[in-house]
Amino acid sequence: MKNYKYIIGLFTILLAYNCTSVSEEDLIDNTPPPNSVSFNEDVRIIMENNCTFCHGDPPTNGATTPLVTYQNVVDGVNNNNLIQRISAQPGEGGAMPLGGPRLPQNLIDLIIEWEAQGFIDDTPPPPPITFDDDIKIIMDNNCTFCHGNPPTNGATTPLVTYQNVVDGVNNNNLIQRISAQPGEGGAMPLGGPRLPQNLIDLVAEWQAQGFIEN
Ligand code: HEC
Ligand code: HEC
Repeated sequence: MKNYKYIIGLFTILLAYNCTSVSEEDLIDNTPPPNSVSFNEDVRIIMENNCTFCHGDPPTNGATTPLVTYQNVVDGVNNNNLIQRISAQPGEGGAMPLGGPRLPQNLIDLIIEWEAQGFIDDTPPPPPITFDDDIKIIMDNNCTFCHGNPPTNGATTPLVTYQNVVDGVNNNNLIQRISAQPGEGGAMPLGGPRLPQNLIDLVAEWQAQGFIEN
């Protein structure tokens, strides 16, 4: 019994010694953190080099989905077996890239890792919408024919300068007028076809971003 206690005591001393002799270095985890895989840095370029030739927007050569944007590729993985298709051996049904050699295994692994890490999105935000770059040209092409300075053909306000167009949105329902369906009262451009929806959205987004001038 005494021997037993002695051994335990010795063991405790050894253990204590061992713990105090652990250097600080041993306590720091030196394993590098797993690299994070993200869309813009890693995945986008793989698509551009191997897939968007057919999976562009619009897709060509029989492909049915684009693989251009972050959402495109996430949808490809979640809904269209993208990872199974690039993992398939050439010749197996559905193997991608179609007709091409299999991607190098490290690129396949990168996409698998991107999914495992939760589809990190590092796409830079689009540049802000400005009057000088985006809005002025819409007015020049569709409105200033009547909304010049001075306005003509019955229009009562110019839409030439930055301030003109801000006033049009704030005081004269400019966005409601371009959003109206042709034939609806007040629809603009007067008598013309409705603007393409992407241009209407651009003007609305310009307002939402606070009317940036340049
Ligand atoms: C030479 C043209 C071509 C290239 C390059 C190509 N694909 Fe495809 N892909 C197709 C065609 C055609 C289909 C439709 C037939 C099928 O489903 O197999 C398709 C289908 C797919 C589908 C199913 C959804 C859809 O769009 O129909 C996925 C996912 C896919 N490809 C992923 C990829 C990936 C990822 C790459 C690049 C690594 C790639 N493809 C490269 C032609 C191509
Ligand atoms: C063919 C001539 C014509 C074109 C092109 C035209 N408008 Fe007009 N616009 C008018 C006339 C006429 C009025 C006055 C009658 C009314 O209020 O509907 C008017 C009125 C307006 C008004 C109310 C303030 C004002 O000046 O009376 C706004 C805002 C407006 N238009 C915006 C636009 C926008 C934006 C475009 C281009 C997308 C455009 N219009 C293109 C003729 C035109």
